Amino acid sequence: MSSADPAVAITGVEHSYGDVTAVGPVDLTVPEGEFLVLVGASGCGKSTLLRLIAGFEQPTRGTVVTAGKPPVPGRGAGIVFQQPRLFPWKTVGGNVALALRYAGLSSGSSQVDELLTRVGLHDVAHRRVWEISGGQQQRVAIARAIAVENPLLLLDEPFAALDALTRERLQEDLRNVSGATGRTSVFVTHSVDEAVFLGSRVVVLSARPGRVVLDLPIELPRSGIAPDELRGLPAYAALRSEIGHAVRAAARLEGTSV
Ligand SMILES: Nc1ncnc2c1ncn2[C@@H]1O[C@H](COP(=O)(O)OP(=O)(O)O)[C@@H](O)[C@H]1O
Ligand SMILES: [Mg+2]
Repeated sequence: MSSADPAVAITGVEHSYGDVTAVGPVDLTVPEGEFLVLVGASGCGKSTLLRLIAGFEQPTRGTVVTAGKPPVPGRGAGIVFQQPRLFPWKTVGGNVALALRYAGLSSGSSQVDELLTRVGLHDVAHRRVWEISGGQQQRVAIARAIAVENPLLLLDEPFAALDALTRERLQEDLRNVSGATGRTSVFVTHSVDEAVFLGSRVVVLSARPGRVVLDLPIELPRSGIAPDELRGLPAYAALRSEIGHAVRAAARLEGTSV
């Protein structure tokens, strides 16, 4: 990777499953350090685009390049899915230690403790996965994804299955964690509020096949502001309204609902 290479470069990408074109054509460049949120109606191809960036799928047309190279599945990106996908027979700390070992890193208790502290879980390290809440499980998944010094963090609707309050807490904490690590992130959601709250840039996708219909920088303060204060800013409401309008207009094109 040269310093000039963007974290992600998507060029002329289309992806089809048999006769169904899920995505594209899409051109999208993600500079290093950006927190990009992809937002769009259910079925518009968000997960497909994320899987292409992770290297789990190969594009039918076009190219995906991460840090100057073709993405290698399981390497180069930490991934958080909607369901936490933890090993239920292991402890919270055991799940994080496994991710460290898998990456060939030291998995001593100090490394594990440091990661769990970063996601607010230092006091449940010895619990089993089934003894903690859904929100806590998703925190473990985030700890595991940031365990490795991957340049890229990919998150596919990680908070969609959580109750509203837990979701807000995790959004706030992710905002802080990502602010602290400065890691390039691509976060997929169908929630407009989540997009504005988390993103440094928001891209709205059309209904299937997903194409970029809006690409907006989110110029809101990223630190030193309380979440309620942030959500109360007139600029926040204006962005929500503009993005919400684009998402609804895109969804109406095919009669899908958001
Ligand atoms: N493995 C697959 N095989 C066939 N069709 C798929 C597959 N994955 C997704 N699709 C289809 O591609 C479209 C986009 O799916 P997806 O990327 O999951 O959208 P989103 O994440 O925005 O809900 C949908 O119509 C979906 O049914
Ligand atoms: Mg999806």
